[in-house]
Amino acid sequence: MEQQQFKIIIADESHQDFARIICDEMESSAKARGTGIAKRSPEYVQQKMREGKAVIAFTEDGVWAGFCYIETWSHGEYVANSGLIVAPSFRKSGLAKQIKKKIFELSRKTYPESKIFGLTTGLAVMKINSELGYEPVTYSELTQDEAFWAGCKSCVNYEILMSKERKNCMCTAMLYDPKDHYEPEETTQDFSKHSKLYERFMRIKQWKLLAPFMSHKSEKNSNSGGAPEGSKRVRSLFHTFFNF
Ligand SMILES: CC(C)(COP(=O)(O)OP(=O)(O)OC[C@H]1O[C@@H](n2cnc3c(N)ncnc32)[C@H](O)[C@@H]1OP(=O)(O)O)[C@@H](O)C(=O)NCCC(=O)NCCS
Repeated sequence: MEQQQFKIIIADESHQDFARIICDEMESSAKARGTGIAKRSPEYVQQKMREGKAVIAFTEDGVWAGFCYIETWSHGEYVANSGLIVAPSFRKSGLAKQIKKKIFELSRKTYPESKIFGLTTGLAVMKINSELGYEPVTYSELTQDEAFWAGCKSCVNYEILMSKERKNCMCTAMLYDPKDHYEPEETTQDFSKHSKLYERFMRIKQWKLLAPFMSHKSEKNSNSGGAPEGSKRVRSLFHTFFNF
């Protein structure tokens, strides 16, 4: 079957009418996954479009298919590529990968000195980020800009984030530091080697983070056996995921 082709472009004011459908899709997708999300308003998305800080995708017939935008934090020291969304009917055809590549290139061009980061609960996004040279990091390596973390207030998991003093939550943090980064080939290889472990760690982490909110029982046995033995790399990954 022929693969569907998309137009992936930098958004501008002519795309503002799509802001509503984009926000609605972000919200309903988060609900369907049962995961949290920092809510965005159509006005905010429109502003990103006007500023040339967003990427939008369409089918060849002009049907909206996907979106992502850029945010800057800590006076430009950090950039986040946020709000990635692909319309359900166009998923699993490589579109998110193309959108992330485009927004990454735009971020590198516009903010060449900035560290680029993302937070995600999904393995697909971890895979895409890894292919761009991102690596998993602890939250302490992200921006400490209050305004960024305030964006998490509308997420259902905000209470968990705060209970962990912003050191951890359901999302996995990933970072690309232009001054100190692995090559995309290395991070891609690392991801394929460890993806099963990532998946397992994410499940354990989510269970461990949720446990205190589900019951008041002691956590003393939680996570035992979660730390696999082995290479230094696996131990450092363990620290990244379980930085409680
Ligand atoms: C996550 C999302 C953006 C992925 O979009 P997509 O266009 O289907 O992703 P792609 O087709 O580009 O897939 C990228 C890679 O991830 C893999 N992948 C896709 N969905 C996956 C999933 N649910 N679990 C594991 N891997 C997955 C694909 O196989 C592909 O790998 P490949 O290159 O080896 O084939 C889309 O499902 C979505 O919009 N979800 C709701 C919003 C969301 O979760 N946004 C991310 C917030 S951080």
